[in-house]
Amino acid sequence: MESNEILSLLAEHYKLKGSLIPLAGELDLNYKLTIDNETAFIVKISRDPETISSIAFQEALLRHLKEKEIEGEVPQLIPNLSGTYQKEVFLNGKKAILRVLQWVEGRLWSKTNPILSDLRYGLGNHLGNIAQNLQDFKHPFAQRSFEWNLSECLWVEQHLGLFTATELELVTPFITAFKTHQETYNQLPKSIIHNDANDHNIVVSQALIQPKIIGIIDYGDACYSQTINDLAVACTYGIMDTEDPLAASLPIVKGYHQANELSETAISHLYHLIGMRLVISLTKAAINKKSHPENKYLLVSEKPAWALLHKWWKINSKRAYYSFRKACGFKAHPNLAKFEQWGKANTFSLKTLFPSQKKQDTLHLDLSVSSLWIENEAAFNDLTYFQYKIERLQEANPHKIIAGGYLEPRPLYTSEDYDIQSNEGPISRCVHLGVDFWLPSKTPVHALLDGRVVMALDRKGEKEYGGFVVLEHQIDAMHFYTLYGHLDPESIAAHKVGDALKKDSLIGLLGNKENNGNWAPHLHFQILLDLLDYTEDFPGVQTYQEQDLWADLCPDPNLLFKSEELKPKLKPTTEDIMPFRKKHLGKSLSIQYQEPLQVVRGHGAYLIDQNGQKYLDTVNNVAHVGHEHPSVVKAGQQQMAVLNTNTRYLHPNLNKAAKAIIDTLPKGLEVVHFVNSGSEANELALRMAYTVTGGKEVIASEHGYHGNTNGTIGVSSYKFNGKGGQGKPKDTHLIPMPDAFRGKYRGENTGSLYAQEVHKTIASIQEQQKTLAGFIIEPIISCGGQVPLPNNFLALAYKAVRAAGGLCISDEVQTGCGRMGTHFWGFELYGVSPDIVTIGKPLGNGHPVAAVVCTQEVAQKFANGMEFFNTFGGNPVSCAIASETLNVVKKEKLQENANQVGSYLIQALKALQKDFPILKDVRGHGLFIGIELLSDQQNPLALETSYLANRMKDLGILMSTDGPDHNVLKIKPPMVFSFSQADRLLHGLRKVLKEDFLSVPKTL
Ligand SMILES: Cc1ncc(COP(=O)(O)O)c(C=O)c1O
Repeated sequence: MESNEILSLLAEHYKLKGSLIPLAGELDLNYKLTIDNETAFIVKISRDPETISSIAFQEALLRHLKEKEIEGEVPQLIPNLSGTYQKEVFLNGKKAILRVLQWVEGRLWSKTNPILSDLRYGLGNHLGNIAQNLQDFKHPFAQRSFEWNLSECLWVEQHLGLFTATELELVTPFITAFKTHQETYNQLPKSIIHNDANDHNIVVSQALIQPKIIGIIDYGDACYSQTINDLAVACTYGIMDTEDPLAASLPIVKGYHQANELSETAISHLYHLIGMRLVISLTKAAINKKSHPENKYLLVSEKPAWALLHKWWKINSKRAYYSFRKACGFKAHPNLAKFEQWGKANTFSLKTLFPSQKKQDTLHLDLSVSSLWIENEAAFNDLTYFQYKIERLQEANPHKIIAGGYLEPRPLYTSEDYDIQSNEGPISRCVHLGVDFWLPSKTPVHALLDGRVVMALDRKGEKEYGGFVVLEHQIDAMHFYTLYGHLDPESIAAHKVGDALKKDSLIGLLGNKENNGNWAPHLHFQILLDLLDYTEDFPGVQTYQEQDLWADLCPDPNLLFKSEELKPKLKPTTEDIMPFRKKHLGKSLSIQYQEPLQVVRGHGAYLIDQNGQKYLDTVNNVAHVGHEHPSVVKAGQQQMAVLNTNTRYLHPNLNKAAKAIIDTLPKGLEVVHFVNSGSEANELALRMAYTVTGGKEVIASEHGYHGNTNGTIGVSSYKFNGKGGQGKPKDTHLIPMPDAFRGKYRGENTGSLYAQEVHKTIASIQEQQKTLAGFIIEPIISCGGQVPLPNNFLALAYKAVRAAGGLCISDEVQTGCGRMGTHFWGFELYGVSPDIVTIGKPLGNGHPVAAVVCTQEVAQKFANGMEFFNTFGGNPVSCAIASETLNVVKKEKLQENANQVGSYLIQALKALQKDFPILKDVRGHGLFIGIELLSDQQNPLALETSYLANRMKDLGILMSTDGPDHNVLKIKPPMVFSFSQADRLLHGLRKVLKEDFLSVPKTL
């Protein structure tokens, strides 16, 4: 009814005809007018007297920006037939103003997912650009009094009665802070600002990956105010619904500052202004809730706004201020330069800190993620062993103090207290902000300078400081702090906050592991330029992501000591490694992920990069019992230290490993040949088949992969039919991949149809008077896309192959050693037993050891006189490792774990399919799972699969893709994968699957 009236007004005054769709709006009626499905306009009908009086101002503002030709879209007013930009009309008998504006094509920020840092940067930058170009725009209307103008925000005080006591706890501090800082705030530069960059006013490009800011619409709230307020508004909405709003605000601030420079004073107000903008919104919402309970739009942002205010209130305001400074390119702490200058001019001796020590030179101890000295988690958490190693190092270097650690990313902080939730998944606080001095317990620690005690307490608890002292120092009108951790609590008990401590006086004695948080004795010494309102603690490690901020707040203690040894040691970065690798390592080596990953440490189901970022590994079935499993590592280390040689000598390890393997296999499979890789195992299996049968013809599956040697490439259609492949060798015979989901025959009971293909192939080999050597296949075809074989297929196929005199080879390189959960070997899923089994990847838990196991008959016939000699295969070290890997599978019940966690994961993924229809098939057994992504028309979604894997990596979860169409996500984690890790994986998948690139319907 109303739309018809509007349509006729549009025809009358603008000669525009089309269809109208209503849009959300607070006071105006807004519509999208579309003409011939092409051109679009926004139609605004204003009846509110306040808006009407602002129309001329908005008109002038938009024209001003048009003349400036700024980058990005600024919606322009369309002239009506009388050549003006507004028309007084009557709608429903009431006076209103009709305006038509150009439609800014794109989608709204509120409808964009994910919102990542570069988009936030773009928002800040675009807004800064507008602000910069409005500096010289003046208009009398802009001076109006306006409740959304942050500089007038104290009107909210009249409405505090609308809030509950708990709500007031969040609201009041921001009002108080605003009043406290009002004097300097009033003096900040002012200009006309947009003042309403909320998520419904920011237009983003349609690109589903890396979208850009197109423009900001709706200048209805523009006013004359402190320029910084515009940024505060944009931040408020740009960080809504985020895990870490401060981190989310930084790219917005950075982008803004690049376009419109902020002063240090302006930055100092930003934190409180963001809080105050939320307070205005929430006060408005509370008022509106009372007076217009029916208007849902007015309430729409209330819930996330409270959640944000709560999070924002918890953030330390100084920390926010320093973070904003850093984002704008200033030193995070204003006193940093002064402190550095003072540090340069004053050198301190370690003898002052540790007068009982004769030595003052230092020896650097590397405790970084890639350090080999600290060994694995089992070793560094064994404090007796750690202490023993420190003592040995000290004995070897009696004249040096063992020290180091400033800005070192360390793997040592394994308690969950060190993990925090970032906007992209959990991250670890692991970058050390002080220097550690490794000296015996009871070593006295003395003051370097005159100071005043500001903290002295016992921080009890695992991996805590234990006895902990912070001193304040006042130097040249600048004050800073020194922190001493891991002291003996008794030795500091006499200190009281406020006590003066003279230079050279005793602070305390070093603690021992019983009283210092369970660390080997050492002093943690850190400099602080601000206490950030901490009164009983101060972090000694922070995240790599915030390293630059913290380095400015906690400068290098070596500024005081100036020791060459204590200078931060740089480790190779990805940029250091790549050029050499590209030039001097095999050109056909590939690298996983669009942004390559440098991993330097593994533990359990985690891989850790050089900066201490932990990645949950859902890919690596080689690290079968967990990355660097301590008992497997130990078995290898111990044997390596004693003897490693070849199989021409007797050694019990060889028998032990062979027996451990045979014990897991069905009767009959009982002769083992050790080799070094899966490829070598399959190469040997093929040679056995040739020798035993006298034939050369091998049947394999389409899309199979069995290794990188000439012989195995020849039976791997994944390779010879793939990029750079030479095509099928004449003695290889392919059957269609037995894929009941999307193969030649689909659905249940297709096993016999695929077995018929084996029959047909044998018949054709025999027709050519050739002899079948064997049939090689994986129980679940991994490179083919984690494809389980249809029921009954393998039994029928083996029968046919054996009837034709061929041998059956089960390639268990991926599927073996308990991964299937219900069974130890993949072939057992189908109730068959092969003649030859090849075992690779999991057997050595990362160490190159592989094996071929066959029947006595096959072994007998293969031993035709030619010696099988393998320099490395079956060496005592590899055998010790293989035995221990199989032992750990048993001891830690990892097959059962694969069954339980795998079934849970498969069920949960199937449930996920209901919400995300592109997940067309979930399949697998135990911890060997595939998810196939297809469009509604059953077309493979390779780009989407790759997007998913890459975004999961951003969330700290490693996944891989495979399948002939690159549209299958593979899950085959170390078998220690836990239920909670499965939940994290599911949570990540759900988050990414909701993102625009994956959630828009796939109709192709
Ligand atoms: C099923 C299968 N067989 C054999 C191999 C070859 O093993 P390797 O890389 O240890 O030579 C692989 C390797 O990915 C494989 O997946």
